[in-house]
Amino acid sequence: MGRPAVSGPTPRLVEVGPRDGLQNEKFVAPLDAKVAYVDALSGSGLREIEVGAFVSPKVVPQMADSERVFARIARRPGVVYSALVPNEKGFERALAAKAGKVAVFTAASETFNLKNINASIAESIERFKPVIVLAQKERLPVRAYVSTAFYCPYEGAVAPEAVVSVVRRLLDLSVTEISIGDTIGKAQTEDVKRLLSPLLDVVATESVFLHFHDTYGHAVENALTAWREFGVSGFDASTGGVGGCPYAPGASGNVATEALVCAFKAAGSDPGVDEAKLKAAAAGLFTHLGRPGGARPAK
Ligand code: HMG
Ligand code: MG
Repeated sequence: MGRPAVSGPTPRLVEVGPRDGLQNEKFVAPLDAKVAYVDALSGSGLREIEVGAFVSPKVVPQMADSERVFARIARRPGVVYSALVPNEKGFERALAAKAGKVAVFTAASETFNLKNINASIAESIERFKPVIVLAQKERLPVRAYVSTAFYCPYEGAVAPEAVVSVVRRLLDLSVTEISIGDTIGKAQTEDVKRLLSPLLDVVATESVFLHFHDTYGHAVENALTAWREFGVSGFDASTGGVGGCPYAPGASGNVATEALVCAFKAAGSDPGVDEAKLKAAAAGLFTHLGRPGGARPAK
């Protein structure tokens, strides 16, 4: 498919705070707080919000009320409300909740995948094959996450070829987009370049989203590098930098959405999201999380 000319595309931000952020908070946010957070986010100009996860409530109790969150949010026209699903059961729940997009997830490292979803990479892809078929029948777009695309907490550095190989298998299933996860937030700009070079030879740039956790504070620079040097425009982020990482105690969650908005604006490209409204959404949520806000820009 080749790499397109870099032209500084307008960034497209996918908000993952209500799912990735809140799934990793120790204190389970009350339903009202989750609904208020999603509604505040949809009023900020964000076009896509990952609202929840239809995974096992025993494994991730923080997401057990995802149906109720979907039922209560005020849906704004033009905003996509998506959900994470691990299997057919999750898909049926997402469909009943009227999710506008579903996200399946696997990893580039076998050990992480086993610990996360109790399946090898190959098994996980087999498991969500029927999900993709069902989603296509329902005309729902499918996002596919590839976790540990740079570093694995168990196996260390992950080779770009391993990531490209998983991505090829996902593209064979005709997923709509791929989200490349720096799950433990360890990647630096050189790692990003090393992966994007071969990756963008097999997948269209506009189908790639980068999902940086911000454990070591590299996420904003990584995003800017991918955007400037490779023309990637899709980035996942979590308003307030909500969340953490179960594999890196004390670590922060995804890069804060407001940090990306601020950085892209400073670099001359406006993602069309109101920073003040994001900050207000985070402030509202943090009154319920039993801890002070931890987003990097607030420090
Ligand atoms: P399993 O134990 O292998 O599956 O778990 P199972 O099919 O044997 O089911 C076990 C039990 O779970 C059964 O219940 C099922 O009914 C139930 P029981 O009979 O014991 O009462 N179950 C479900 N319940 C509700 N909804 C479902 C569902 N599926 C099964 N969809 C499974 C396999 C995948 C289900 C489990 O391991 C799981 O739910 N894992 C979720 C893990 C997770 O959510 N991790 C975080 C998301 S990934 C992430 O954050 C990374 C990302 O952000 C990118 C990045 O940063 O890199 C995306
Ligand atoms: Mg994540």
